[in-house]
Amino acid sequence: MTTELIKIRGLMQNSDDFMRAGNLLKNGEVVAIPTETVYGLAANAFDEDAVKKIFIAKGRPQDNPLIVHISEFDDLAEITSEIPESALILAEKFWPGPLTMILKKNDKIPMAVTAGLSTVAVRFPSHIYARAIIEAAGVPLAAPSANRSGKPSPTTAQHVMRDLSGLIPMILDGGECDVGLESTVIDLTGDVPTLLRPGGITLRELREALGNVAVNPKILEEVSDNEQVASPGMKYKHYAPSAPVVIVDGEALAFRDYVCRNAADKSIAVLCFAEEQHLFDGFDFRVIPYGNRTNPAELAHGLFAALRSLDDISADIIYAREPEVGDGMELAVVNRLSRAAGFTRISV
Ligand code: TXA
Ligand code: MG
Repeated sequence: MTTELIKIRGLMQNSDDFMRAGNLLKNGEVVAIPTETVYGLAANAFDEDAVKKIFIAKGRPQDNPLIVHISEFDDLAEITSEIPESALILAEKFWPGPLTMILKKNDKIPMAVTAGLSTVAVRFPSHIYARAIIEAAGVPLAAPSANRSGKPSPTTAQHVMRDLSGLIPMILDGGECDVGLESTVIDLTGDVPTLLRPGGITLRELREALGNVAVNPKILEEVSDNEQVASPGMKYKHYAPSAPVVIVDGEALAFRDYVCRNAADKSIAVLCFAEEQHLFDGFDFRVIPYGNRTNPAELAHGLFAALRSLDDISADIIYAREPEVGDGMELAVVNRLSRAAGFTRISV
């Protein structure tokens, strides 16, 4: 299959392209689309055969459910059987935007989408092209991130091309994604709303809106074999470049000294804060900054692109820096980086 890459310049300028993407989706095909978080690989959420194509193209485990994307609030009733008060509050505040709610599904959503679960993940993206594509398709779109399973999520159309070229018919290029990592996932089906994946909407914002919000401990911990998890995505190694990643905690100079000692007998690369880059001037290994330590949104925006460029470097090991965990965007950064590192962490 050849993959067509279409650069989107505007809703009017590319109206034919939106129509073609919509027709492909109506006809049971998959299309990669931009969203404000990361690129998604979309298919008609009501069409089981179309949804199966997503799993094949991504090499995604069958038991990992997909998020269903809608283009207006009223579509929520098309896919869920119950809309709790908490969902109305969150929708009012954060939709359209980078928030996914887990709700009870209805019968129209096939089991292939939810991997057999009785709940469904729903998101109403704010990206205007994403919404235009959902509207052109005329149906809600099931879409996971448009990477090959295990790789960092794509934040540009070129990342998608790299992973899925030859495997899907079309990629719509809407430029770089704003947020840079995936949506926040919150489960609203239990007694207490529970954060399952930190993302673009922060824990602080969720608590301001709802009061009590629990945090699933597996956000920052490794899941052991055969352990039951609230969200299947927690089980899988994610976002990993080909070389092993080790997170190094400690002062900047101690970090620099540790890395330089190890560089004597290993080929290394460094993923650091922007303000630490100069510490490595004059050394001949690759140093990739991903944002300012004090600016979690910037770190979130830069992380996946940085992990992908590290993937292109042949290093034996990657030493990485992480921000301190709080209730803002840094929680999402540490969650993704921990997974990329397989939870390997040292203090210096
Ligand atoms: O920002 C995003 O959310 C992007 C864009 C494309 O919208 N999508 C995305 O999808 O990140 P994906 O498939 O890479 O991640 C979906 C996560 C997985 O960890 C999955 O296990 C979880 O959501 N999930 C989906 N349905 C669920 C459900 N019913 N219960 C619990 N977790 C669920
Ligand atoms: Mg993903």
